[in-house]
Amino acid sequence: MKVTVVGAGNVGATCAQIIAEKNIVQEVVLLDIKEGIAEGKALDLWQTAPVNYYDSRVVGSTNDYSKTADSEVVVITSGVPRKPGMSRDDLISINAGIVKSVTENVVKYSPNAKIIIVSNPLDVMTYAAFETAKIPKNQIMGMAGILDTARYRAFLAEALDVSPRDISALLMGGHGDTMVPLPRYTTVAGIPVTELIDEDKLNAIVDRTKKGGGELVNLMGTSAWYAPGSAAAQMVEAIVMNQKRVFPCCVRLEGEYGLNDMFVGAPVVLGKNGIERIIEVDLNKDEKQLLHDSANSVKGVMDVLDGMNIL
Ligand code: NAI
Ligand code: 2OP
Repeated sequence: MKVTVVGAGNVGATCAQIIAEKNIVQEVVLLDIKEGIAEGKALDLWQTAPVNYYDSRVVGSTNDYSKTADSEVVVITSGVPRKPGMSRDDLISINAGIVKSVTENVVKYSPNAKIIIVSNPLDVMTYAAFETAKIPKNQIMGMAGILDTARYRAFLAEALDVSPRDISALLMGGHGDTMVPLPRYTTVAGIPVTELIDEDKLNAIVDRTKKGGGELVNLMGTSAWYAPGSAAAQMVEAIVMNQKRVFPCCVRLEGEYGLNDMFVGAPVVLGKNGIERIIEVDLNKDEKQLLHDSANSVKGVMDVLDGMNIL
C-alpha cells in the first residue's frame, strides 16, 4: 500500500516521517515542486529506517505524479504557511491555485485515493479540492479538528496536572478563531471536565485554543508542524488500518447540523472508505449558534474564493 504526501515542507516532511515510523504502509511518497527537496528529505528519512526500525520505503519526487500512482491516501500540505500578521484567510488566492493544480494531478494518478487537505485556509481549501477532484464526498476531508482538540487537551492536561491521554474532547466548526471547543463534550477519564476546573480557567483555555495557531506563529515566525504533521498522520493511519476512529474532521455537510453544502469540522468515523459516517451530537442553543457563526465565517471565505473564479 502506498501513501503520498504533497509538499515536503515543515508539515509534509513531519507527516511523512510519522507515517513511515508507524510502519503501516509499504511506501511513502513525498512530492514537492521545488527541485530536489522531496528527494533529499525522502532519502534522509529512509536512512532513519535502520535506526528507528521500520520498513516503509520513503521515496521523493520533484513534481512527477506518476510516482504517486495508485496511492491509497494522499495528504496535501502544499502551500504557503502563515506569517506573523497574516490571517489564514490571507492565504486564500495563492493556496487555492496550488491546491487546485495539485488535486488535479493527484486524482489523475490515484482516482480512488482518500484525500486529506492540510493547506490553509483549511475549510475553504477542502472545498476547493472537493470542487476540483469531483470525487465522492467521503473521499475528501480536511485536517484541523485533531490538531485543535490536541491543543485544547494539552492545555487542559497542564492545568489539571493529568495525562493528556486521559482527556477526551470534541471541537467543531471552522479552523480559525471561530472554532467551537465543546466543554460539555470534554471529559477526563469519563469525568466531565466541568467538575474538575472552574469556569474562568476553562474559558481561558477555550480562548487560548481558538488562538492556538496564532500563538505558535508569533513565537516561531511561521506556523506549527509537529502537531499538524502528527494529526494528519493519525488520520492516514485510521484510514489505511480501517480503524473506525472517531475524530473531528473538516467534511462536507449536507443537512447535518442544519448546514448545507458547507465544509466545517464535525465528528466523523474514519475508516477504509475515508469518512464512513458523520456523527450528529446534540448541541444546545448556544453551541448551535457558535457552530453556525463559525460556518458563516467559513462561508464568507468560500464566497471570496468563488468570486476569484480560480476553481
Ligand atoms: P512550508 O512552506 O514549510 O511547506 C510548503 C511546501 O509546499 C514547500 O516545500 C513548497 O515548495 C511546497 N509547494 C508549494 N507549491 C507546491 C506545488 N504546486 N506542488 C507541490 N508542492 C508545492 O509550509 P508548512 O509549514 O509545511 O505549511 C503547509 C501548509 O499547511 C500551509 O498552507 C499552512 O498554513 C498549512 N497548515 C495547516 C494546518 C492545519 O491545521 N490544517 C496546520 C499547520 C499548517
Ligand atoms: C495552525 O493552526 C496555522 O493552521 C495553522 O497551526
